[in-house]
Amino acid sequence: MSHRFVPVQWNNNKKAYDKALWLSIVIYIAIFVIISVVIHTGEEALVPMTMLIRAFGSLGFILLTLILCIGPLARIDSRFLPLLYNRRHMGVSMFLIVLVHAILVIIWYHSFGPLNPIESIFTSPGSFDNSADVPFQPLGFFALIILFVMADVKESAGKWIDIGDWKSIGNNRAKTIQISNGERVAIFRYENNKLAAISNVCQHQNGPLGEGCIIDGLITCPWHGFQYRPEDGRSPAPFTERVGTYELKMEADKVMLNTAGLPDGTERPVLVIEQLINVETIANA
Ligand code: FES
Repeated sequence: MSHRFVPVQWNNNKKAYDKALWLSIVIYIAIFVIISVVIHTGEEALVPMTMLIRAFGSLGFILLTLILCIGPLARIDSRFLPLLYNRRHMGVSMFLIVLVHAILVIIWYHSFGPLNPIESIFTSPGSFDNSADVPFQPLGFFALIILFVMADVKESAGKWIDIGDWKSIGNNRAKTIQISNGERVAIFRYENNKLAAISNVCQHQNGPLGEGCIIDGLITCPWHGFQYRPEDGRSPAPFTERVGTYELKMEADKVMLNTAGLPDGTERPVLVIEQLINVETIANA
């Protein structure tokens, strides 16, 4: 039996985030180079390669600092949550920036001698006895490897997982699953052939939304009746509560959920499955 489904794409929030991030990166590099040209004149003038090496190196350090600060900041102020949800994008971007820095360093400082460039990095003169003479380039080599692992781990942090037996979800009902970070996600079925995943935690008093049902097209909390739209996790006007949403997609016969939750109230495509029309309803609200 064939399936028809809406593939999950980049949502507008992610696109806007990445555009802003990379625009900021380009602006930083440009400003760094301009300031270097203005400050270092005459005999102290820097060659373009040195400026770029410093620009990319300092930018990598700034991005790493920002990435490490986002988690604590998001706990203090929820306005930082969009940055937290997209932090892996910044992690990958930071790794690419540092990689460019490393390549430029290898080309400029280690490619014109008799030694292999990598061998040259580890045989550069230096000493840990003198703080001004620390051989930081071998340390930078290992730091690059660590950053690569971090970027890869952060990228896979939002992995797609099989939600299990989706065919047994009753119309207007939900199945609740727990993902690896401990969060519980409620996957609702409605209009018979649509699936939408949201956080299981109600914004009122943390009621279990997955134990509720859909009434008049709205996910309804079983405790006190707060409601949320399946499409974006937002309460209908005039209410302003929002819960986190999750992306779903179909792979072969499996419904997959992206464990990287989206910011509260984020609209994303719901999964429309033709096959669900023919699945016997287990429980109707
Ligand atoms: S806990 Fe959900 S409505 Fe009160």
